[in-house]
Amino acid sequence: MTVLVIGATGKTGRPVVKALTARGINVRAASRNPGTNGVTFDWADRDTWAPVLDGAEGLYLVPPYAVPDGAGLVRDLLAAAPDARRVVLLSLLGVDLLPDVIPMAAWEDEARSSGKEWTILRPNWFQQNFGEGFAPALREGGSLELPAGDAAVAFVDTRDIADVAAAALTEKGHGHKVYALTGPRALSHREAVHILGEAAGRKLAYTALDPVSFADGMRKAGADDRSVTWQRGLFTLIRNGENTVVTDTVERVTGHPARALESYAQENASLWRAS
Ligand SMILES: NC(=O)c1ccc[n+]([C@@H]2O[C@H](COP(=O)([O-])OP(=O)(O)OC[C@H]3O[C@@H](n4cnc5c(N)ncnc54)[C@H](OP(=O)(O)O)[C@@H]3O)[C@@H](O)[C@H]2O)c1
Repeated sequence: MTVLVIGATGKTGRPVVKALTARGINVRAASRNPGTNGVTFDWADRDTWAPVLDGAEGLYLVPPYAVPDGAGLVRDLLAAAPDARRVVLLSLLGVDLLPDVIPMAAWEDEARSSGKEWTILRPNWFQQNFGEGFAPALREGGSLELPAGDAAVAFVDTRDIADVAAAALTEKGHGHKVYALTGPRALSHREAVHILGEAAGRKLAYTALDPVSFADGMRKAGADDRSVTWQRGLFTLIRNGENTVVTDTVERVTGHPARALESYAQENASLWRAS
């Protein structure tokens, strides 16, 4: 069986490639900048689609979140993949609560109406954000400033998302299901940053930013209006308490408990140590 992993260099794609490979699956690891072991694919360049879709029997889709008309692209890609019987779409927890200006729920609709054996993953915020996007601020400034208030989030390890994705792509019984994926307990960003600091052996701080200052900061850093609107919408969900939910889906699907932030922090402590 050949599975095409779109977004293979990202926070979920990398462990999905690993989990599928461990199951003996032939993986095509696709993204815009795939490196030496991957294949080139760009949602925004349809000429790159056919070569990677040819013969792929399963698809893992990190959707075109940064490209306009993402839903139309998901629809067209699925229609252009007749060999693909199973598709796993990465969505997000709370997708159905987002305002219309953030039409991520439409990606899911395209998977549902594709005629494929679809599985939709709705993960909570990733633990790996602390080690990738947020790491420089923590390492160099010792603090993280976000408009997340003091609301709790059941951060999920992307390796657990990958284990669920691999099961859905290679085992029976996961078709036409929506899986809400979370870590084992909900933590505020202040608590989460404290856990990272304990692992790194230093004091790390969290500051709750007001949403307007956050948006101004994003614009000053060069973000476009669309990115600012989307990020504000996602943080509004957190502040409204929509990300506190803890599910047992990881354990039910994979047979192992969801990984705790403490484990991720211990394994990656050097990321938050001052250089
Ligand atoms: N981060 C979170 O906490 C979180 C939580 C829940 C859901 N999600 C969802 O996860 C998705 C990805 O977010 P992320 O933060 O995880 O991103 P990420 O780790 O940066 O991964 C994005 C991947 O997509 C690829 N990519 C980006 N633009 C592409 C394009 N035009 N064509 C083909 N590949 C492209 C990137 O590789 P190249 O740059 O090489 O193309 C990379 O492999 C989003 O839809 C988001 O809503 C994220």
